[in-house]
Amino acid sequence: MKFFVDTAEIDEIRELENTGLVDGVTTNPSLINKSGRNFFEVVREISSLVDGPVSAEVASTDFDTMLKEGQKLAEIATNIAVKVPLTRAGLRTCKLLSDNGTMVNVTLCFSANQAILAAKAGARFISPFVGRLDDIANDGMDLISDICDIYANYPNFSTEVLVASVRSPMHVVEAAKIGADVATVPPSVLHQMFSHPLTDKGLADFTSDWEKTGQSIL
Ligand code: G3P
Repeated sequence: MKFFVDTAEIDEIRELENTGLVDGVTTNPSLINKSGRNFFEVVREISSLVDGPVSAEVASTDFDTMLKEGQKLAEIATNIAVKVPLTRAGLRTCKLLSDNGTMVNVTLCFSANQAILAAKAGARFISPFVGRLDDIANDGMDLISDICDIYANYPNFSTEVLVASVRSPMHVVEAAKIGADVATVPPSVLHQMFSHPLTDKGLADFTSDWEKTGQSIL
């Protein structure tokens, strides 16, 4: 499973990049707004910080403008994945950009029907939002399971399932059990994934007992 970091905060990305476990980054207009930074500057900085795909989302909703915006975003760096919304115009934009070799991440996916259309439009990634489905008492993981089952029937579909709107480490575990390709995870959830109280207690006990030996390895 690949891990992307779902943030536009440079310091948080840098800290997690140092673990060697980060395979990419996703941003969206809300995360860019939260960063308080110039869109092009922060995306350019992120794309130089990580080698993997960095998602940068178009701002318009009409085909002509989304296509122009997507082409401009793709010029920022070779690892840019242009994010477009799962709408008729967004998929039309996805098809053209993908046909011209641009990575496209189709976002705001909430149904299996939408995911099928995104794969047919040549999306590199499809981003189903599990947390927002859970928020309205739908089971977001059921959607991930449906999409993975459907995609497995069509070897010519090359779209990777990028689980988004992740709210907890359990979302990551459930997505991995299903076999999703990628999870884009808020930094806070990634930090939670490292931690377990029994690990902390066990390490404290090992450290204490090692000190009692009076020995050193170096
Ligand atoms: O960036 C796309 C997705 O991860 C947004 O998640 O928490 O705003 O539903 P959230």
